[in-house]
Amino acid sequence: MSKKIVVLAGDGVGPEVTGEAVRVLKAVSTSHKVGLEFEDALIGGAAYDAAGSPLPDATVAACKASVGILLGAVGGPKWADIPVQHRPEQGLLAIRKALGLFANLRPVTTVPELAAASPLKPEKLKGVDILVIRELTGGIYFGKRGRTAEAAFDTCEYTTAEIERVCRVAGKLAMARRRKVTSVDKANVLDTSRLWRDVATRVFREEFPQLTVEHLLVDAAAMHLLSRPADFDVMVTENMFGDILTDEASMLAGSMGLLPSASLGAGNGPGLYEPIHGSAPDIAGQGVANPCGTILSAAMLLRYSCGAEDAARRIEAAVAGALQAGARTRDIAAPGARDWLGTKAFTDVVLRHLGAH
Ligand code: IPM
Ligand code: MG
Repeated sequence: MSKKIVVLAGDGVGPEVTGEAVRVLKAVSTSHKVGLEFEDALIGGAAYDAAGSPLPDATVAACKASVGILLGAVGGPKWADIPVQHRPEQGLLAIRKALGLFANLRPVTTVPELAAASPLKPEKLKGVDILVIRELTGGIYFGKRGRTAEAAFDTCEYTTAEIERVCRVAGKLAMARRRKVTSVDKANVLDTSRLWRDVATRVFREEFPQLTVEHLLVDAAAMHLLSRPADFDVMVTENMFGDILTDEASMLAGSMGLLPSASLGAGNGPGLYEPIHGSAPDIAGQGVANPCGTILSAAMLLRYSCGAEDAARRIEAAVAGALQAGARTRDIAAPGARDWLGTKAFTDVVLRHLGAH
């Protein structure tokens, strides 16, 4: 039986990077007999332009009927001045919410060959292997908000149940890794964070007693990510802290363009897979975007939504192989280097490492 994948290319560099990731998925689908089938649907500014909404009903219906969704990026200066509810970003937030995708997995690893692309010293980067679990459907992103001419407000709310379920995801994943969890909050200031810390403490103590648990305030966590990145295993945190910390953590790997993500809900519904980078309007259409984050997101799609672990590992090994062999996109090339590859040419190298090209 074939498995339907919905591709939401979106805006900016989105179509370029999803196009390349789909080439990789097609190759692996054939070689590993995964039986994928692809359908395009609209999201973000592209959807607003074509259908008057950043998340048309037809897109939600297609996503709900799929096994997994591969998303590029949304947003851009073209839509900066349209009413808030029509902004491209609202389409992304709304699809996460509509599918109940509360756990956003953002792995951050380093490869020695890319050490020069990171601003950190190479000795700090050795052995970095972090899995950030970002809560994705609560907090200040979804709270009541308002604006008048002279004032504005956003509110952050969390329930015990929302914190419990994301901590359980973190606990389960940590048990299959190095058995360490760092929960990040701002419990010295925020009530939502005090609830977060209480619930996290209880869930890990009662349900995952084998784990080593650490609690960090978010400001300290931002610093520790740079001073001792290799100490972290699984990190779990609320929506906005996770957004900020993962952009920071991407510089351990060397570039925003390298990091994938998986957004998962409860039960067997479709997961959504997207690079953590944005639409990068400054380089859109030039064919120079780094496709690694999206290709590695496609690997996560195979792992978490298709049960195709072998195929997922194959893709991850091919990306690592391409990087180890010296293939570079512009964002991770040595300063002044001229031999970097465009989005498509880099993917050709990945495909060769897959043995499919
Ligand atoms: C991300 C992005 C999004 C977010 C934006 C585009 C709404 O920054 O996925 O990290 O803030 O969640
Ligand atoms: Mg972000």
